[in-house]
Amino acid sequence: MGNQKCPHVHIPPPGPESKRLQKRSDDILLGVSLIGGHPPNHFVSRYRDGWFIEDVDGNRYLDWITGWASAPLGGNHPELIEATVKGLHDYGTECLSALRVEHQWKLAEKLHAIAPPPLTKVVYDTTGSEVVENAVRIMREAAGPSRPFVITFLGSFHGGNYGTAAMGPHNAHYNHSIEPFMSGWINVPFPTCYRCPYHLNYPACDIACLGYIEEMILKYKATPDSIAGVNVEFIQGENGVQIPPPEWPKRLYDLCKKYDWILYNDEVQEGVGRTGKWFAIDHYPGVEVELLSLGKGISGGLMPLACTLGSDRMSEPAGKLYTGGTFAGNPAACLMATKLLEIIERDKVLDNVAEIEKIAKAKFGAMKDKYEIVGDVRVLGAYMAIEFVEDKDSKTPAHDLTREIVYEMERKGVVPIYEPAFNYFRPTPALNQPPELFALGCDIVEECIAGVSRQFAKGIA
Ligand SMILES: Cc1ncc(COP(=O)(O)O)c(C=O)c1O
Repeated sequence: MGNQKCPHVHIPPPGPESKRLQKRSDDILLGVSLIGGHPPNHFVSRYRDGWFIEDVDGNRYLDWITGWASAPLGGNHPELIEATVKGLHDYGTECLSALRVEHQWKLAEKLHAIAPPPLTKVVYDTTGSEVVENAVRIMREAAGPSRPFVITFLGSFHGGNYGTAAMGPHNAHYNHSIEPFMSGWINVPFPTCYRCPYHLNYPACDIACLGYIEEMILKYKATPDSIAGVNVEFIQGENGVQIPPPEWPKRLYDLCKKYDWILYNDEVQEGVGRTGKWFAIDHYPGVEVELLSLGKGISGGLMPLACTLGSDRMSEPAGKLYTGGTFAGNPAACLMATKLLEIIERDKVLDNVAEIEKIAKAKFGAMKDKYEIVGDVRVLGAYMAIEFVEDKDSKTPAHDLTREIVYEMERKGVVPIYEPAFNYFRPTPALNQPPELFALGCDIVEECIAGVSRQFAKGIA
């Protein structure tokens, strides 16, 4: 590893200072935001340093959370901080969303240059939940009042407010006690092939889950001309990085063409390089969307920023609506995001993502072959999940084992995205994390899986 910093845990987390501050935070902060309670990584962080998080007890962890996948260049990239400060100096502390500001269209021009056709225009928002709701409002406005329905996919996560929470929905627990939501969503199955809802196998299944739309929905629920369009995350992120069969996106697109449905792509999590290309849709030639949203990554993890790219046809309906809000298109955020895209190009960050992908496929793939409890490994670019089961035959979700492995990883200095309600975790490195550091993290994962397998599981595969 040369002079590269490494994870270093000298006091088992949470250490005494973390515990003291945890108590203080529990006393004053309302609720816990994660389903299933706090994750293991409940140390109190003090500092983000490149690819590491440091806690208040002096431990250093390899950061595989990256602010819920919002920091593509790690924790404190100096050029992003510099660009933000310049934006603040240029425009002061007034957000100026009511006025036209050069930084907004410079970023829009840059996004247009990298976006696939027919996406030509940009509208700003502040958060992912907001941008998704507004994109769907634009879609409905474009489709007109005779098309009140929107098709969305079970298990997708589009946000936490009353519109987006109903769109996937992602998980029944998220919606506990807070129904009724607004109506109009038609939730259909996503190709979660490791756990196929029909217990079929790809490719023999001929993607039966997509057939559900024509065979069931159009027959029993809604006529084709009452549907405005489809909202899709091509790869479901929060649902454990569910990667569809390669032809599924094109078949979905063809269905939209057939019925004149507007195809909208929520790339809040997968956009800006996470999958190894600028946009996830770039993996699927021949598929075009008329609306595509970015959030998380475009913010650099630093300045709340989200936006929707739209086709020319979407411009008039978008202009009729009030979208955005007070903080949309903050000039300092736009300047920072333009710099972020320049750095990704200049430093060939997508090539680095390809290296990360190779390592993840090789190392996690080998763990899947070796350990009975590793049920599935899903990787595309730096987007990945490892799913744990009691044994490969039954595929029974192994929640306790997953939690134990994540605890052990934390004790050895690696923290992934993980929520205790799920039997998977998601290593989410910065896109520019050095491959050898990422590989070190994978080796630590293997140590933890091996240890937990020896102690609790039914053995080695
Ligand atoms: C695909 C997708 N859309 C929308 C959102 C909501 O974004 P935010 O948390 O910024 O509201 C998320 C957040 O995880 C997401 O993954």
